[in-house]
Amino acid sequence: MRIYVTQPLPEPSLGELLAGATVQVGESGIGEDELIRRVSEVDAILSTPPVPITTRVLDAAPRVRIVANCAVGTDNIDLPACRARGVVVTNTPGVLTEATADLAFALILAVTRRLREGEALLRSGAWTGWKPLELRGVSLEGKVLGIYGAGRIGSAVARRAAAFGMTVFPVVDTDPPERFEDLLRSADVLSIHAPLTPETRGRFGDAELGRMKRGSFLVNTARGPIVDEAALVRALESGQLRGAGLDVFQNEPKVHSGLVGRPDVVLLPHLGSATEEVRLSMARMACEEIARFFRGDPPVNRVV
Ligand code: GLV
Repeated sequence: MRIYVTQPLPEPSLGELLAGATVQVGESGIGEDELIRRVSEVDAILSTPPVPITTRVLDAAPRVRIVANCAVGTDNIDLPACRARGVVVTNTPGVLTEATADLAFALILAVTRRLREGEALLRSGAWTGWKPLELRGVSLEGKVLGIYGAGRIGSAVARRAAAFGMTVFPVVDTDPPERFEDLLRSADVLSIHAPLTPETRGRFGDAELGRMKRGSFLVNTARGPIVDEAALVRALESGQLRGAGLDVFQNEPKVHSGLVGRPDVVLLPHLGSATEEVRLSMARMACEEIARFFRGDPPVNRVV
């Protein structure tokens, strides 16, 4: 069995769980044409979020029968194309829920309590001591946390919010449209946890950000293209939003230039699941799906 792994993974994973297979491990930044050259003979692809598994890639890999994504989101994979070819797709839900919720909450605290500005002031050497008027942020206690996409991760963020004395306003995709409007109107902090789908792409544009509570905060640890970054910059510039915490971006690894210099924005390089424990569990889950598939057992976390 031949397996192509799109990026290096924490061990023990490949070496232990796919021992006996011929494994080629790729690196970040190779283009689609190079990927196509590498997958032509493989039976399985172990994919990672930044690497698109497109129709062209699948066409170039006629032997592939399973794509095991080392992530919970599968928007990097052309799912209809996999379905049409009978290629199984799996993901890694569950193990990353708490770590991603922790990171979302870290961003919520960072933007509402102005950690970036405080850190910059201190490191600049310009801080002259405690002042009643200095760097006042916004208390979470008594505020409304809107959760767009209250699935596993959104619900874990909601549990944290309750411990901080916040009221939680969750919205799921089956809710009537009025509930989304109520979310925009009522959230002091709006945290995004929905998957990227055709329905959620661009869901937060000028119109929606304009209907949010004036002076509220937006946090996104889900997928960048759910938010129109140019519209977000405009909402921050006008004071419609008071701050934003972003772990994901519309065109990763690029970040909108209008966000980079803003002191009211905290930017992280897609770290939601980035703990040693969780990244190892994700790698092992993806390897186990491939091993299981080729033993003839059903996949545990099948998406397609
Ligand atoms: C990471 O972003 C994931 O979807 O697991």
